[in-house]
Amino acid sequence: MHKTPVSFSSGVDRVQLNGAGEEQLLAAIDRQRLPVHVAIIMDGNGRWATRRSLPRVEGHRAGVGALRETVEACGQLGVRYLTVYAFSTENWERPEQEVGFLMDLLMTVVEQELPRLVDNGVGLRVIGDMSRLPARVRERLTEALKMRPREEKLGLSVALNYGGRAEIARAARLLAHDVVAGKVRLEDIDEAAFSSYLYTAGLPDPDLVIRTGGEHRISNFLLWQLAYSELWITPVYWPDFRRVHLYEAILDYQRRQRRFGRI
Ligand code: FPP
Repeated sequence: MHKTPVSFSSGVDRVQLNGAGEEQLLAAIDRQRLPVHVAIIMDGNGRWATRRSLPRVEGHRAGVGALRETVEACGQLGVRYLTVYAFSTENWERPEQEVGFLMDLLMTVVEQELPRLVDNGVGLRVIGDMSRLPARVRERLTEALKMRPREEKLGLSVALNYGGRAEIARAARLLAHDVVAGKVRLEDIDEAAFSSYLYTAGLPDPDLVIRTGGEHRISNFLLWQLAYSELWITPVYWPDFRRVHLYEAILDYQRRQRRFGRI
């Protein structure tokens, strides 16, 4: 049986879904009002492992299963874009052994899973500064990323060595470069123009952000893009995240009234 968490994303939006089964939740989702873009802060791997007296890295390994299930569920539902936070610019501060394990895991998972993903219409991209990744990881990832689906049904972005502030600073630098080169006029710089210099250029902003592990923080994730996203936070640790939790998050999202700053 899956643990069904209490949704505590906000008091007024609290949804009484406890006890409902996976099938019932799935049936309750309005397919016409799906979030187009779901972003996930996959947190709690370390705590999941520690609770089981396992090394932290076992939490990351177990997290791959949760990601596989989430990608499949998003594809089957018809969510168009999924972005996951796999490694932040701050994660380099972790013990060397954990960083090395994560790098190898990311590389192996991408290489092993990509052919099946591509066959199923999943297009993978990496957002973040790949230049700082170890050369062998960067080279093998770059090679794997050349594999594209014939028709993209789900765009999966993996944030790798990603930081929201670093992304904005990089966009400013690239834009300034184009201004100096005479390619962009100052008066043409607006939000849309700026967005086109971000890693996520061409992608719609996330409609729904899911954070597992219970912390109420954005943690330098997609700072520009999350301006009007709906947040859904669950105490469930990432390795325990299942379809049922995704369905709960989407149902909660569908009960909200998005106002984008208007009344
Ligand atoms: C946060 O948990 C999780 C990460 C830093 C890594 C996420 C990576 C995976 C789920 C591996 C698979 C991903 C891909 C894209 C193949 P934490 O270690 O911060 O947990 P804690 O808060 O309990 O310490």
